[in-house]
Amino acid sequence: MIRIQNITKSFGRTQVLQDVSLDLPEGGVTALIGPNGAGKSTLLSIIARLAPADGGRVSIDGLDAHQAPSADLARLIAMLRQDNHLTARLTVRELIGFGRFPHSGGRLNAADQAAIDRAVAYLDLAELQHRFLDQLSGGQRQRAFVAMTIAQETKYLLLDEPLNNLDMKHARAMMRLLRQISQDLGKTVLVVLHDINFASCHADRIVAMKDGRIFATGTPRQIVAPEVLADLYETDIPVHDIDGRRIAAFYD
Ligand SMILES: Nc1ncnc2c1ncn2[C@@H]1O[C@H](COP(=O)(O)OP(=O)(O)O)[C@@H](O)[C@H]1O
Ligand SMILES: [Mg+2]
Repeated sequence: MIRIQNITKSFGRTQVLQDVSLDLPEGGVTALIGPNGAGKSTLLSIIARLAPADGGRVSIDGLDAHQAPSADLARLIAMLRQDNHLTARLTVRELIGFGRFPHSGGRLNAADQAAIDRAVAYLDLAELQHRFLDQLSGGQRQRAFVAMTIAQETKYLLLDEPLNNLDMKHARAMMRLLRQISQDLGKTVLVVLHDINFASCHADRIVAMKDGRIFATGTPRQIVAPEVLADLYETDIPVHDIDGRRIAAFYD
């Protein structure tokens, strides 16, 4: 389980996380939603130790995330960042191979190659695996970065807006994949989503953040509700029941 206790974080004078506490139980897909600037990316980065907190504590399976040896942490938790900048000219397969670093230490053995093959297949990248990243569309590149994260084969997976740039087919496939790896492989997935309908249809639970705080947590049925969404996003969002799911309609 991931236990987040009293995390605070400021940039300059702006406090972007205010005493955030949250327990994420093992297994399942948790969607993290909320308006721009709510602190979602900052919280994910702190959980994965990509950024320091000012106060508070994160523990993952009892391991202090900010004290544990980084190699131990890297075998337990992987994170897809919202903005991936790469200057090196790499192929898709080489990038995915980076995900194996905590296991391989830089020398890929047969087990690492097999894990790379699995990630290539999961993300539908077989035909693109020898292309350079700068020869890909935004959505193809996004899938390559997700494949790298999955190839790390950690128990916990944090994904910051993995649906960015994806077309409908690949967005749906991505959400099905996240559900599948949580169900079949017992992974615990925490995923930042902007499309609350994907959260509604695919997540086991939803955590909503606003103004650096946890605003609400619950099942999709509890969170994808007009009274919750109106306060969360400060705009009226009608919600319809379609085929037993709550679907927000906000395109008018
Ligand atoms: N490196 C940084 N320096 C200064 N301010 C930052 C930095 N990163 C994020 N912020 C600010 O922190 C707040 C939360 O940002 P973020 O965690 O990215 O929100 P979200 O992912 O929910 O959109 C925003 O107001 C953002 O401008
Ligand atoms: Mg963000």
